[in-house]
Amino acid sequence: MLGKKEKQVPLDPQNIPRHIAIVMDGNGRWAQKRGLPRKAGHSAGSETFHKAATILAELGVEHLTVYAFSTENWKRPPDEVQEIMNLLERYLKKSVRELTENNIQLDFWGDLTPFSPKLRQLIAQTDEISKQCTGMHVHICLNYGGRDEILRGARALAQDCLAGKLLPEQIDEKALEARMDCRGAPAPDLLIRPGGELRISNFLLWECAYSEFYFTDTLWPDFDETELRRAVAAYQGRQRRFGGLK
Ligand code: FPP
Repeated sequence: MLGKKEKQVPLDPQNIPRHIAIVMDGNGRWAQKRGLPRKAGHSAGSETFHKAATILAELGVEHLTVYAFSTENWKRPPDEVQEIMNLLERYLKKSVRELTENNIQLDFWGDLTPFSPKLRQLIAQTDEISKQCTGMHVHICLNYGGRDEILRGARALAQDCLAGKLLPEQIDEKALEARMDCRGAPAPDLLIRPGGELRISNFLLWECAYSEFYFTDTLWPDFDETELRRAVAAYQGRQRRFGGLK
């Protein structure tokens, strides 16, 4: 699946994005095109995620954030939701060790409270194993919504005010961010959305204020090393001004 290195899209090693965020979209269509059940698309998507994490770590990316299950994905048919949960459990049982052997640190963004005790236990174990690692951070977003992340942060601010730990006039961007899932991570430099849709779908609404966006029709399970390098090359061609002048 991976292209040969010698034929690869050239990249400037001095301008690798520190943080890449990905909406892993198109799994269902990938499966349908092959006459397979949607779950086969999610399964192929999880393999693509695994390969992408390894490739991006080698490129020198420091943070990778992936949208695996949104606060809105509960609206899908219960059997598809269950299949994604089963896939996550299988993934956390089998594949996490391989990522951590590559020194990749995994953590989870989102409200994890609605998940089964078994999945939450696997998540806690993964967090524990990851503590030994010092390499790229991978943030897996589960029951994650950008609005929900901001709301949970706002609630934590209100609680700290009520407890007398914080004055309302002390609330600034830093204070809110310190209570959000993204605390400690730099803002994404590049947001990639495969699958042909041109929207953000409630992903990282706070964090993406000045991210560069890259959209492509390629479906996520087909998003190989060449596609990743194309996205990074597009980023390297952008001029970032953050609202200022050149
Ligand atoms: C969007 O494609 C994908 C999802 C809602 C699920 C993503 C989950 C995985 C890739 C697997 C688990 C991840 C990890 C980190 C192990 P879609 O189903 O909306 O595709 P469609 O638009 O073609 O229907």
